[in-house]
Amino acid sequence: MVVLDAIHRIQALHANDLACRWNCKAGKCGSCSMEINGRPKLACMTRLSDYDPEETITVQPMKTFPIIKDLVTDVSFNYEVNKRIPPFKPKPRDADGNYRMMQKDVDRIQEFRKCIECFLCQDVCHVLRDHRRQDAFAGPRWFIRLASLEMHPLDTADRVSQIKEDFGIGFCNITKCCTEVCPEGIHITDNAIIPLKERLADRYYDPVMWLMRKITGKDRKK
Ligand code: SF4
Ligand code: F3S
Ligand code: FES
Repeated sequence: MVVLDAIHRIQALHANDLACRWNCKAGKCGSCSMEINGRPKLACMTRLSDYDPEETITVQPMKTFPIIKDLVTDVSFNYEVNKRIPPFKPKPRDADGNYRMMQKDVDRIQEFRKCIECFLCQDVCHVLRDHRRQDAFAGPRWFIRLASLEMHPLDTADRVSQIKEDFGIGFCNITKCCTEVCPEGIHITDNAIIPLKERLADRYYDPVMWLMRKITGKDRKK
């Protein structure tokens, strides 16, 4: 039995109007995110047997987002951020009409596509949760998406200045809390945020790269 089953039992027997969002019951839709004994988790993937039978299990809505009712929160902030991310812009096809990519480049971004948009990483990140910098910080889920676009071998758009100025990656101080709670095991900090920060450092703080840009007139994309 998982925590979501227990919530359904409570709904059936004691509180018919208890609000709880869920859909797949398989850890793949990202709907049932909540805080279980203070830790961001998917209710459908959290077994009651993981807890001591004598222990009280407390479920709460995600703290970072406004509550709609009971365990249901308003996560629309995330979709507003997503709308501001410049979309995939592929380079022209090769002369034979095909696209060619190195397998290692494909493999590198594959991990990011596992994101189920549960927003547990957004919930736990202190920049959004405690400092409430939704005005200036996109949050780890969106650095995953930005990394998947920036590292895409066919993409030609340049989002680096936006990642710095608009999405506020500088607020991230690499606490890695986001990585710890990701139910898909995505290495958010090491594989997405740090490489994006390195691109920023190349662009804005590396004198050699600055000189190269002056000489060639080009920015490093990959
Ligand atoms: Fe959830 Fe992981 Fe995606 Fe964050 S990166 S929204 S924790 S699946
Ligand atoms: Fe927040 Fe993750 Fe950075 S928790 S501070 S985005 S490492
Ligand atoms: Fe879909 Fe839990 S109900 S992830």
